[in-house]
Amino acid sequence: MKSVQWHDTHITILNQQALPHKTEYLDLKNIKDVWDAIVALKVRGAPAIGMTAAFGLALAAKSYETNDLAQFHANLKRDRDYLASSRPTAVNLFWALDRLMKSVANATSVNEAKTTLIHEAICIQVEDEDVCRRIGEHALSLFQDGDRIMTICNAGAIATARYGTALAPFHLAKEKGMTLHAYACETRPVLQGARLTAWELSQAGVDVTLITDNMAAQTMKAKHISAVIVGADRIAANGDTANKIGTLGLAILANAFNIPFYVAAPLSTIDLQTETGDDIPIEERAKEEVTHIAGVNIAPNVNVYNPAFDVTPHELITGIITEKGIVSGDYKTKLPTLFEEVFV
Ligand code: MRU
Repeated sequence: MKSVQWHDTHITILNQQALPHKTEYLDLKNIKDVWDAIVALKVRGAPAIGMTAAFGLALAAKSYETNDLAQFHANLKRDRDYLASSRPTAVNLFWALDRLMKSVANATSVNEAKTTLIHEAICIQVEDEDVCRRIGEHALSLFQDGDRIMTICNAGAIATARYGTALAPFHLAKEKGMTLHAYACETRPVLQGARLTAWELSQAGVDVTLITDNMAAQTMKAKHISAVIVGADRIAANGDTANKIGTLGLAILANAFNIPFYVAAPLSTIDLQTETGDDIPIEERAKEEVTHIAGVNIAPNVNVYNPAFDVTPHELITGIITEKGIVSGDYKTKLPTLFEEVFV
């Protein structure tokens, strides 16, 4: 079962908020269900958010009663903007929605446009599986049997169509009979590392050790961590990368310990329109995510700052691993070449 699945009348998602205790699937029957599921992190991770929003837009369009193309496009723009308002940081959301909008720009009838939207959303999902596998192959070429690799958040199969980005090398290593040891940071405040990565990797038979976020430095030193690999929500044109809060701290630590720090992400996460990390909008979420753990209050009623993401400057990134290969160094010059037909 995939983390996101299209059915003709609804979208089914794996409820990532119920994991690891319950494997529960939810049916999203209209655009509001889709928006709510994205905001509540029931579906999360940049590529999965993009896929779900794409299916959500196709589902919404299916219900339009008009046969008038101009009216259809007006409705579609309204619903595109609504879904785009769900979360601000992961660029895959806007990338997927805009890809759907473009796919019907020249449609000659409402019926044709409705069918095209569904087709395009399915293509995004099918392509993502192939993209993640390629990312995994490239990432694996950097690692050796027995390596101990640290990660944060969940950039895994459940955050994508399959395999994941930062977790793809672990899944592929397993397929190939190679051993990689994962060290998963728990990822406060909402624990994607503890609840999701530890679950996903242990389900897949990958050797995974869970640590709290503040154990990263000690673990790098004591356990001789070979590399850090993380996912991304948006990569700016100069290589600065927004990812889950805590990523910047890991990058600084990796630098201090002289450990390579890799970002694994598809081209759909690279935003050449955003010049630097300073231009990436950082989502701030509800204070209860910090003051409560699993519904239990752990703090007095004080001010809370809860940024969901941070930005790692490109100087701290050893390499960005994409489906088209690995780039490093002068990201500003090299990232655009990834979008050329032939990448050498
Ligand atoms: O808030 P989340 O759980 O959606 O944040 C997810 C991350 O930061 C992931 O690392 C990123 O989206 C890549 S998922 C392949």
